[in-house]
Amino acid sequence: MIIIGAGGHALEILDLLSEINKDDSIVFFDNVTPSPSGFINDKYKILRNFDDALQYFNTVDNKFTLGLGSPEIRKNLCVKFESLGGEIISTISPFAKIGLYSNCIDNGVNILANATISNGVTIGKGTLVYYGCIITHDCKIGNFCELSPGATLLGKCIIGNNCQIGANASIFPNIRIGANSIVGAGAVVRENVPENVMVAGVPAVIKKNL
Ligand SMILES: CC(C)(COP(=O)(O)OP(=O)(O)OC[C@H]1O[C@@H](n2cnc3c(N)ncnc32)[C@H](O)[C@@H]1OP(=O)(O)O)[C@@H](O)C(=O)NCCC(=O)NCCS
Repeated sequence: MIIIGAGGHALEILDLLSEINKDDSIVFFDNVTPSPSGFINDKYKILRNFDDALQYFNTVDNKFTLGLGSPEIRKNLCVKFESLGGEIISTISPFAKIGLYSNCIDNGVNILANATISNGVTIGKGTLVYYGCIITHDCKIGNFCELSPGATLLGKCIIGNNCQIGANASIFPNIRIGANSIVGAGAVVRENVPENVMVAGVPAVIKKNL
């Protein structure tokens, strides 16, 4: 499997795969950051361009998972690697707590340790649920979102596609966050947020249009 990215978050995904003993045939992909060795820890090869990724898909296997943050980059690279014939895979920590009832978790989702997900929750394709997030019952989260460490989504929240929820932000029950919007770290969101804005503060207010 290819982990897309070779930076800090990609190593977090490698940690996760090690926890479940699935780190034996991993390679990374990074076509922007120089690395003298071309390997991580002298063990995991870094593919450097899309031709190498295509060859990997054709000769080894066609699985990939996302190992980088920002929603836009996650989405764009997912589309690119799918166009090369790749199949996006979820990586879910065994140390996450996920309810047993009526959850719907799409492909390509990363769920890291100590995340808690209740029941009746929908998580869209390619979304990242970071360490310690709490997602309570019946929340719906769109595609390619980034939920930063400690973000808390209270009951029946609806988060649009490509949203970024900052560390330790709290979203009140029944609140809707419009697509492509950003919630700042530590924000407390008590009112609906439109699309394409950045909100921050306690209580959160719109700081700028995106
Ligand atoms: C929301 C965020 C992305 C905005 O970054 P930015 O676009 O560079 O915003 P700016 O620094 O231009 O700030 C714009 C305004 O919002 C305020 N602001 C930004 N982030 C804020 C926050 N988290 N809480 C309160 N106010 C905030 C700034 O003080 C500024 O206010 P002003 O216009 O009154 O001076 C960033 O501040 C943030 O909170 N990022 C989340 C980081 C995080 O959780 N990362 C997790 C990685 S795993």
